[in-house]
Order: sequence, then structure tokens, then C-alpha cells
Amino acid sequence: MAESFLAQIKSRCTYYSIQRKSPISDTRILEIAREVIKHTPSSFNCQSTRFVILLQDEHIRFWEIAKECFKAAMSVDEYKGYEKKLVERQAGYGTVLLYEDLDVIREFQVQFPRFKHHLLDFSEHNNAMQAFNLWTALHLEGFACNLQHVNPIVDQRVVSEWKVSPNWSLRAQLVFGAPIGERHHEKTFVPTDHRILVHGMDREG
Ligand SMILES: Cc1cc2nc3c(=O)[nH]c(=O)nc-3n(C[C@H](O)[C@H](O)[C@H](O)COP(=O)(O)O)c2cc1C
Repeated sequence: MAESFLAQIKSRCTYYSIQRKSPISDTRILEIAREVIKHTPSSFNCQSTRFVILLQDEHIRFWEIAKECFKAAMSVDEYKGYEKKLVERQAGYGTVLLYEDLDVIREFQVQFPRFKHHLLDFSEHNNAMQAFNLWTALHLEGFACNLQHVNPIVDQRVVSEWKVSPNWSLRAQLVFGAPIGERHHEKTFVPTDHRILVHGMDREG
């Protein structure tokens, strides 16, 4: 029963070689984002994650802003090495900015004081689960995706550019576009035996 789900999560991977083309309509991208954000679980069902979806020219604008922010923050030499990565991201079709609404987290901290400190961790978990589901869903629709973290350096510029609430905390960016050529890298794995301990397992299986 789990085989088709396992096959789907096995097929997801990081792609950096992407282009400004989309295998699906923008309406379908929004539909997928709606389904993911709605059906991905969150702590206490607080539904704290927010998406800002930037497509086509808006995606290019985002990565232009990232270039400006990093250029201002880095030495000339450091930036020279880093710019290539930003140009690679900009070559894609879209970026989803994944936020956590801190007002929601604070509200739940008041409601559940015993979990006050956990709730910030849980907020990261909520966001990561959304990222994984969105990444896998867009991958299955034919997009090549990669996950980035140019926050917090771009945060203020994004707030003013797209009127994002300053109470939303940017946690990650999922970049996507049509794939160019082969996957960037083969997945590598450490043995799972090192990562899973089992007790009480039936010897017969
Ligand atoms: C929490 C998390 C943070 C990541 N951050 C970045 C990142 O900032 N930049 C990047 O290029 N890849 C990032 N990645 C991608 C990982 O490097 C990648 O998923 C990992 O090497 C396994 O490769 P795969 O995605 O092809 O399975 C991140 C992945 C996760 C799960």
C-alpha cells in the first residue's frame, strides 16, 4: 500500500540546473500550493505556515533583490564566487517563500503555556513539512526544485516589495523550473542500519 508513496518520495531530489519554463499552468501551481498548505499537519493544528508564491518576473525580481543584498553584505571576492549560485536560482520559473506567522505561534504559546518553548521548534517542523510536501508535489508535476535559505538577509526588502507582514518569519525558499539535462547529483546515503534502532521486532518478520 505504501509503495506508490515511497516511490514518489524516492523520486524527489535536488536540481540546480533549471530554466524559466513550466510544465504546468500557473493555476495548477496555485492549486497544488493550496492542497499542500491545507493538508500538511501542524502542531496543535495551528496552521502557522504561509506561502508567498513568486512566478516569472516576480521570481526574477526576488533573485535580483537577493543579489543586491548579498553584494552589499559580502566582500567583492566573496560575492564573485556566490553570484553564480544566485544567477542559477534566478534562471528558474518560480520561487515559493515559506514563512511562519509568528502571531499564530505567540497566540498558541499563550493558549498552551506548558508548550511555550516547544512551539517555536514545532513552528520550524511545520514549515519543514510544508517544504517537503510542496517540493515533492511540484517535482511530481515535472518541476526541478531546490531548497534555499537566503533569509534573513533579504527579509526587509521582501517585506517592502511584496507587502508581506513583518510578523511573518521567512524560513526557506523553494525554487523551481523545468529541468535542464540530467539531475545535478546522485543521491548518496549512509547505511540506514546506522540510523534506525529496532527493539522487540518479530524474528520471523
Ligand atoms: C532542512 C534543509 C535545508 C536545506 N538547505 C539547503 C540550502 O540552503 N541550499 C541548498 O542548495 N540545498 C539545501 N538543502 C538540500 C539538501 O542539501 C539536499 O536535500 C540533500 O543534499 C539531499 O539531496 P536530495 O535533495 O537530492 O535528496 C536543504 C535540505 C533540507 C532538508
